[in-house]
Amino acid sequence: MITLGLETSCDETAVGIVDDGRRILANRVASQVAEHEPYGGVVPEIAARAHLDRLDNLVKLALVDAGLGFEKISGIAATSGPGLIGGVMVGSMTGKAIAAVRNLPFIAVNHLEAHALTARLTDDVAFPYLLLLVSGGHCQLLVVCDVGDYRVLGTTIDDAVGECFDKGAKLLGLGYPGGPLIEQMAAKGNAKAFELPQPLTDRPGCDFSFSGLKTALRMLVTQQKQEQPNPSFVPDAAASLQFTIAEILVNRTRNALKQLALENATMTTLVAAGGVAANQAIRENLQKLAAEYHVTFVAPPPELCTDNGAMVAWAGLERLRRGMIDTLDAAARPRWPLDENVKKASG
Ligand code: KG4
Ligand code: ZN
Repeated sequence: MITLGLETSCDETAVGIVDDGRRILANRVASQVAEHEPYGGVVPEIAARAHLDRLDNLVKLALVDAGLGFEKISGIAATSGPGLIGGVMVGSMTGKAIAAVRNLPFIAVNHLEAHALTARLTDDVAFPYLLLLVSGGHCQLLVVCDVGDYRVLGTTIDDAVGECFDKGAKLLGLGYPGGPLIEQMAAKGNAKAFELPQPLTDRPGCDFSFSGLKTALRMLVTQQKQEQPNPSFVPDAAASLQFTIAEILVNRTRNALKQLALENATMTTLVAAGGVAANQAIRENLQKLAAEYHVTFVAPPPELCTDNGAMVAWAGLERLRRGMIDTLDAAARPRWPLDENVKKASG
């Protein structure tokens, strides 16, 4: 079984091809960083147009990379939400058009599920597992029980963690995209230089909050502007921000591990996924936490943490082999929670 996956929900146009032997046969990503950089963030209309301009050619290139024609493809998967609706529509319409013309099954993939299942593509992780899903639009702790079966333990009550990196980078004048730039700058700074708040970490539960951290950083930047120029300010602030975010993520994940142990629902694997899971400091901290709780830590390679087509193709494959296919009138959805049929477990 071989699936082709299209990803267009944010600022990466991506096409991947995977097979049921967990091989990635193609994984083409066309970044739109150059288009959005002048605006300091993703402009939805520009993103949608850029996806439209690039997607067809990227499909062709992916097929060439895989050395395959459409006759070898068993199903077409496309991210159908959540995300910027213009881009999601471009990907989902393209996927449906290919499926209709080639008479192939179409799979409407939830972008969050694609991140959630990537560790099964890369490391063959068995269900259930605890997942820390950290991206530009989301920050959640969930139990991945099965394909399409999620139990949310906690979520952000304000900003997503990736947003905190991106806005932090903007405040520090580092530009876009923020996460990788903060990580590079943090390597040159002192993580203990500034003590920043860690919202909610003194409370039980697994919910996250980042808006207070962002405000504290803004105040720090304002204060710095009134003082003597300090060449180590930006690296120190970046390092302190990254350190604080890692502490928050570890604190909340520890609570999730504790909560599951109390319920006798002990997990053997902790998985991190989403763009922020590409961050080395965060990975190292989660690795230590996992060791403390005797669970295996898995994080896909950084290029499979950030948005890509292989993860969408894989989520499509997981669904296709269970017969979970969609009709060509499947909606493109700007919002699409993973646990929409399930009551939130704690908060
Ligand atoms: O999963 P993703 O590629 O797109 C969404 O689904 O949102 O995540 C993008 C987010 C951005 O906020 C970006 O700044 C962040 O992931 N990110 C990182 C790193 N690489 C990407 N954050 C911290 N460190 C990184 N190395
Ligand atoms: Zn993503």
